Amino acid sequence: MAMGLKGRFITFEGSEGSGKSTQAALVLDYFKSKGLPAVLLREPGGVKISEKIRDILLNVNNKAMADECETLLYMAARAQLVKEILRPALDKGQIVLCDRFLDSTIAYQGWGNGIDVSIIENIGQFAVGGLKPDLTLLFDIDTQQGLSRTNVKKDRIELRCLEYHNRVREGYLALAKREPTRVKIIRVDAPKEIIFERIKTYLDKVL
Ligand code: TMP
Repeated sequence: MAMGLKGRFITFEGSEGSGKSTQAALVLDYFKSKGLPAVLLREPGGVKISEKIRDILLNVNNKAMADECETLLYMAARAQLVKEILRPALDKGQIVLCDRFLDSTIAYQGWGNGIDVSIIENIGQFAVGGLKPDLTLLFDIDTQQGLSRTNVKKDRIELRCLEYHNRVREGYLALAKREPTRVKIIRVDAPKEIIFERIKTYLDKVL
């Protein structure tokens, strides 16, 4: 729950090429067409400082980056976004849509890189002060198929091997199993309009 805050917090998760960003944009339009106060943010990024951290994280030249540094930078970007606009927006009663959040760090740095998930959860608690999405839509696609849908010019994370991305997917599915009330798996096996119809059911319930 968004911890006593007035707004609603919905996150979009999934491995590479899952189409979650397209769906997040469709959801924003949907809420706006209903006259609801919705904003769409992305992670890492969403505010100036966090966008700068994003550049460091995704830059292919930063090959020497340690797994610990990577984990903390994702958390740092998140802490800034939460404090600067995410929590204030929820306080004001807005519907906040976020393209990725803490679950991404559990899947990518935890399951992918092998960082202890309980450590990620502890640092996450510090970074976001216990803020949890009301709903998380997990877009699930076959890893190889997803990777083939990404840009030709890959970023530092996308460049990782297939086994890495398979672990990320496995991590996400484990999260959905652990928290079935919050995390809803959306199979990406149809055109975007049909996928959107599937998620609408969950959106209406969360309002
Ligand atoms: P994007 O492609 O959804 O914009 O996300 C940027 C990349 O950062 C993507 O490869 C996933 C990765 N990522 C992590 O590894 N850990 C995180 O905590 C987040 C938010 C993203």
